[in-house]
Amino acid sequence: MPLIYIRNYDREIPCQKGQTLLEAALDEGFPMYHTCGGNARCTTCMVRVIAGMHNLSPVDEEEAYMKRARRLSDDKRLSCQAVVLGDVEVDYIGPGSG
Ligand code: FES
Repeated sequence: MPLIYIRNYDREIPCQKGQTLLEAALDEGFPMYHTCGGNARCTTCMVRVIAGMHNLSPVDEEEAYMKRARRLSDDKRLSCQAVVLGDVEVDYIGPGSG
């Protein structure tokens, strides 16, 4: 079972196969914003990937569009779009910064 470590909150979250980072966080009661309902339209679920980027699903077209629109750096991912394939370490950024 992959593990997500949210470094800046010192939280370790187990992740079921096929779950997005957002789904796993919410299942474990981690209060991650998701203002658009997980549709790659708001960036409030944004994380900075510290380690394990290769253990997240590739950026799809919707996420790529939002990353371009918001000028997000390569280390940022929308947790609602990133399916967790293996262990990953992130900082949760959330709304209001980037
Ligand atoms: S929940 Fe809105 S972009 Fe992820």
